[in-house]
Amino acid sequence: MSADLIDGKAFAATIREKVAGHVSRLAEDHALKPGLAVVLVGEDPASQVYVRNKARQTAEVGMASFEHRLPVETSEATLLGLIAQLNAAPEVHGILVQLPLPGHLDSDLVINAIAPEKDVDGFHISNVGLLATGQKAMVPCTPLGCLMMLRARCGDLSGKRAVVLGRSNIVGKPMAQLLLRDSCTVTIAHSRTREIEAVCRQAEILVAAVGRAQMVRGDWIGEGATVIDVGINRIAAPELGLREDGAVKTRLVGDVAFDEAIERAGAITPVPGGVGPMTIACLLANTVTACCRMNGLPEPEGLTA
Ligand code: GUN
Repeated sequence: MSADLIDGKAFAATIREKVAGHVSRLAEDHALKPGLAVVLVGEDPASQVYVRNKARQTAEVGMASFEHRLPVETSEATLLGLIAQLNAAPEVHGILVQLPLPGHLDSDLVINAIAPEKDVDGFHISNVGLLATGQKAMVPCTPLGCLMMLRARCGDLSGKRAVVLGRSNIVGKPMAQLLLRDSCTVTIAHSRTREIEAVCRQAEILVAAVGRAQMVRGDWIGEGATVIDVGINRIAAPELGLREDGAVKTRLVGDVAFDEAIERAGAITPVPGGVGPMTIACLLANTVTACCRMNGLPEPEGLTA
């Protein structure tokens, strides 16, 4: 058996189209333009790539993009001052502070300074609590993207055995909350879980979000399971040869050993081209949702959890 591929790239494109449609209706009917502010402190190369992609895609769907790049030595007071300005700015509907922050800045303090209704990452303690109690929240983008793909693939998730591998605040915990809200039977497995292979094998839905290259082997996967691979890991790939500078080439792999998994799973997201593109698409969706909620307008259909 060879698993069906869940094409996150194509799925993300349809979400961006929906977002662009809502953005033009907001302009025509209400003279509103959703705006997303992205704050990057320091020069982490991976974060710079993410921020550039976010800014480009925000502009492509017709929203306003505000980029704030601050030097690595920025003080907490300066950063909190910028967040207060963005909280008060009427043209800004979403605020994202790129993580990780440099070590001298307290991420929890900074994230909790964002106005909860503008917290398009869904990391503010109010949004975490709203999600956990089944109330209307801003939902973190990566788990939201995973949920959309799972619903599209599996339909009603009610009663399904779901295993979330990983317990991070960004993916694992909110993913488990979302699956629970859709009435799955949810297990969170992590580095201390005993007999983790057997736990994963009984899953009908397996979401891997541990950040360890190809940790989930083929025999961890139950026959016909739907596998969502959140991992993005760069590994040496000597089979690709050498770069011009003599270094071994690298390639991206997920947390799941893909070639083994496709022999067991019913469906799987590839890396790259699975969860990754969905994350930014959901950030755009969250920004439109935030703009509608702030202006007392009906929420865009199909873009929320
Ligand atoms: N760094 C890696 N992923 C994320 C994310 O989803 N949001 C933010 N703000 N920073 C990140």
